[in-house]
Amino acid sequence: MTFLQHIFCTTIGRKFLMAVTGIVLIGFVVAHLVGNLQVFESPDRLNGYAHFLSSLGPVLWIERAGLLLCTVIHIWAAVVLTLESRRARGEQHDRTWIQATLASRYMRSTGFVVLAFIVYHLAQFTLGAAQAATYKENLPRYTMAGDYHVLGLTAVREGTVVPDVYSMVILGFQNTAVAVFYIVAVGLLALHLLHGAESLFQTLGWRNRRWSRGLRAVVTIACAAYFIGNLAIPGAVIAGILNPLPAAAASLRK
Ligand code: HEM
Repeated sequence: MTFLQHIFCTTIGRKFLMAVTGIVLIGFVVAHLVGNLQVFESPDRLNGYAHFLSSLGPVLWIERAGLLLCTVIHIWAAVVLTLESRRARGEQHDRTWIQATLASRYMRSTGFVVLAFIVYHLAQFTLGAAQAATYKENLPRYTMAGDYHVLGLTAVREGTVVPDVYSMVILGFQNTAVAVFYIVAVGLLALHLLHGAESLFQTLGWRNRRWSRGLRAVVTIACAAYFIGNLAIPGAVIAGILNPLPAAAASLRK
């Protein structure tokens, strides 16, 4: 059996695939949150960051293709593993069966909501198909008030005219239904990560009796911090702490 056959065609291989793709997706959501939190620093920071990302061209498309591939493999492995374990357990209605099914059901339902969230999220912020009036390309442009640096190097120069992603995000969350949907979805994503992170440590053999309680505490704190970080953005918009730039707000009133 070749290495590829082994990881795609055996149960342990598929668990490994779930763990590895899970690590990549966790890496993305954490980096995405850190980037988004720049909304609390200034419009310059978030707009500079968004412009820097969009200027990466082919690198951005490679990253998007990698994320999509990881998402597809993660879901495929989850479906196959669930069907396999159902078949293996048959109609055995003992306690272990009930516990295992509850855990996997909860992973599946949170997974479905996160997937629905991502589809809406891309339609809203990346494609502008959900809330066209607040989409970055339909808002007045923003002129950078200072340089935006990445790793000490100037990535976007002062005076560059860029899309106003800062106002797009805030105007998007000023719709309470959208903000509540985000908060619920990132809450479920945090729950998904809580169970997923522990099982990936188990799959990769990094979890043992001696430190399983410590690991649970660390994972719980990390997931709570992740949820609070994500909640802070729509929360601050609803509370009126973050407001769109005057030009963007005025363009919507016209
Ligand atoms: C309050 C929380 C969030 C905010 C404010 C936010 C903001 C944004 C913005 C502004 C963009 C588009 C950037 C642009 O086109 O210029 C974006 C793209 C994206 N977001 Fe989020 N996001 C949040 C949470 C999440 C979460 C939890 C996930 C994953 C589950 C996620 C996944 C994505 C993906 C996959 C993209 C597309 C990236 C790309 O086009 O390369 N976001 N987000």
